[in-house]
Amino acid sequence: MEPVKLAIIYYSATGTVHALARAAADGAGKTGADVRLRKVAELAPPEAINARPEWAQHIQDTADVIEASPDDLAWADAVLFGTPTRFGNVAGQLKAFIDTTGPLWFQGKLADKVYSAFTASNTAHGGQESTILAMGNVFYHWGGVIVPPGYTDPVQFQTGNPYGTSHVTADGPPGDVVLEAARYQARRVVDTAAALKTGRAG
Ligand SMILES: Cc1cc2nc3c(=O)[nH]c(=O)nc-3n(C[C@H](O)[C@H](O)[C@H](O)COP(=O)(O)O)c2cc1C
Repeated sequence: MEPVKLAIIYYSATGTVHALARAAADGAGKTGADVRLRKVAELAPPEAINARPEWAQHIQDTADVIEASPDDLAWADAVLFGTPTRFGNVAGQLKAFIDTTGPLWFQGKLADKVYSAFTASNTAHGGQESTILAMGNVFYHWGGVIVPPGYTDPVQFQTGNPYGTSHVTADGPPGDVVLEAARYQARRVVDTAAALKTGRAG
């Protein structure tokens, strides 16, 4: 059986979600999965970006991360999406990427894959769950197999978010526990995709 192909597709303005995405890539990579870590295109105007030095800096720091294309979705057996909360919802940059996937969806090429999502917000009750659930709306339309972390690992009792890995940015950069949750979520996604792949091959 060839390795599971996992695409991790994220948007991050100031690095928090990028740190979670990298941890997820690390967790998945250790399972032997073939991993593509991809950022979506930045759409904000330069005036907005340059008004926040940490935003401009993050763009510079991640210049070498390849931009996501619909081909990454077609290629993948499983896709893990990361987005900051924006008013309790998915960031426009990630949504704009998702809105380019109509042709793939129409051909049925987004169905039957494993999907999962992670997020960050500034405050604890600032919309992490609603953001991940909003990604779920997309997965339903695609006919995806949604794999949340639930409380299926001890680390989930520490982070306390069964919907997907999430970090409160006001607490500082993601620490060991949330990074381990991201690694765990990615492993769970890969394991489920591997089981489906084996079952379908048989
Ligand atoms: C336009 C906008 C809307 C936001 N909405 C929320 C929100 O509803 N709740 C919240 O807790 N944080 C909100 N934030 C804060 C971001 O979610 C937080 O800075 C983000 O998780 C950082 O992720 P990043 O470092 O990967 O960009 C918002 C930020 C912006 C710029």
